[in-house]
Order: sequence, then C-alpha cells, then structure tokens
Amino acid sequence: MRHLITPLDFSVGELDRLFDLADDMREHQERYAHLCDGKKLASLFYEPSTRTRLSIETAMLNLGGRTMGFSDAGSSSAAKGESVADTIRTVSCFADIAAIRHPKEGAATVAAQFSRIPVINAGDGGHQHPTQTLTDLLTIRNLKNRLSSLTIGLCGDLKFGRTVHSLVNALARYQDIRFVFISPPELRMPDYITEFLDDRGIHYEEYIRLEEVIGKLDLLYMTRVQRERFFNEEDYVRLRNFYILDAEKMSLAKNDMFVLHPLPRVNEISVEVDNDPRAAYFRQVQFGVYVRMALIATLLELV
Ligand code: NCD
Repeated sequence: MRHLITPLDFSVGELDRLFDLADDMREHQERYAHLCDGKKLASLFYEPSTRTRLSIETAMLNLGGRTMGFSDAGSSSAAKGESVADTIRTVSCFADIAAIRHPKEGAATVAAQFSRIPVINAGDGGHQHPTQTLTDLLTIRNLKNRLSSLTIGLCGDLKFGRTVHSLVNALARYQDIRFVFISPPELRMPDYITEFLDDRGIHYEEYIRLEEVIGKLDLLYMTRVQRERFFNEEDYVRLRNFYILDAEKMSLAKNDMFVLHPLPRVNEISVEVDNDPRAAYFRQVQFGVYVRMALIATLLELV
C-alpha cells in the first residue's frame, strides 16, 4: 500500500506518469467520472484549509467517489485527547483513502504507520505539503513546458512555509535547477533544506531584496508569512509586510516570468498584479484538482 507523505515518495518517472494522467483527466474529465464509484475519502483536517481540503474533496467527487470527514479538530475526538494513531485506525474501518492535515510535524508519517488505507499528507506543521508540490509541478510543467533548466525564486517565509520545503525537495531532482531564496534573515530556509541541497551539489543563492534579483527569475513563488507558527505576535507584525509584489516590481521581471503562490494571499501580492498575464496563482488552484484526481486514482490503484 502506498501513501504520499513527502514529495520524494514518488520517483521522477512516477511523477511524470502522474502528471500525464492529470493532463489527460483535465482534457477528458468525463472518461474518469466513475473511476471511484463506491469509494470513500476521509478528510481529517486539524488545521484551517480552504483550497487543499476542497480540492481533494472535489477531486474525489469528480471521480465519482464520496467524501466525509472533519474540518475542525474541535469537532473530532482529538478534542477528547484521542491520538492520531487511534483516529486513523478508526477511519481505516470507514474509508478507502484518507487525507490528513495536522499542526504537528510528522503527524502524517504516524498516521501512515497505523493506517490500513492510503494516507495523503495534506500538510504537517511547518514541515511538508506534498499535494501542493504536485500542484506546483503540474502548473510549472504546463506553463513552461519543462521541469528542468529553471531559475526559480522562492520569496517570503521560507522558514515556516511547508510548501517551499516540499517544492525544493521535489525540484532538486530535476536537471539544471537554480534556486534563489529571498527572505528576511529571520525567515531563511532551514538548515535541513540547504544541507539537502549542499549534499547534492545543487545551486542556490540567498537574497533579502526581491528587486535585486527578480529580473533573472523564470518563476517567482511567493508565500505568506506563517503567522500561526510564530512564537510572538510582535515578530509577525514586524515581518508580515516585508515583501509586497506590485506592478512596479513586476516591471523588472522577464515577460515570461510566471508568479505562483500556494494561497491564501495576505498582503504579499498586491491585487493589481492579478490582471498581469504572468500571475498564475488562480490557474495553479485549478491544476491542483486534476493532480489530486490523478493522485487518488494512483494510490487506490485504479489506473
Ligand atoms: C498553504 C499551506 O497550508 O501550507 N496553503 C495551501 O495549502 N494552499 C500555504 C499557506 O497556508 O500559506
């Protein structure tokens, strides 16, 4: 039985097949409308979510399956002190596949250890967010027609942002990838990620000012400052508006530099950028549904 806990759980070849399937599902959605007839997805969300939960549930519905779950830990037995291990053992009696989002790093790994059904990590604390990464890679593949030979800037909260950790892990396996990390010194990429890159001899640079480097990027991945993972509100308030991507900064970028963002956006992208043809973050949301359809079908071994 397979799970998706980190993006490295799938080889590059397996990811290629997953993205081909997602593209086919996008073009011929009707062909897959009954693939999951009779199957059930449980979504176990111990943390807030709009896109990830609704996207995973939409994916299951598009495939003809059904969904159940909770979107608030307070309404689950977690509020009574139940462990993730016991919850997933229970859910294994009800559903065919589960997606879990949890504030603790490693929660999805624990769930997978005790599960009798495939587990999808829908975000574990500040650690990893592999389905967002699948979304990001499918989006990049469609926008740029490649996942290699790219200079990608990751900007914002690189310390607590799980989406950037997963994306760097995943992209590092492709040829000729150059990472540009743009963050305030307090929110730098964690050592375990830079050591991962150092071990593999993968190029990265670190900057504080976005203006200084935006002109050489093929892609800019913006992120929100992760308020809920800060130890004190003062630091958050000081750092929350450190980066605001606006039309002026976009004028320094290449004509084919797409802007991605896992969303939700707070202030880090001015709404004036939304109408720029290079703003791709809402297209990214749409790709997320197709890639999660492909993921569910793959983990349930229906393709
Ligand atoms: C991200 C997350 O939850 O990590 N959102 C998402 O799933 N698309 C990013 C964020 O919350 O900043």
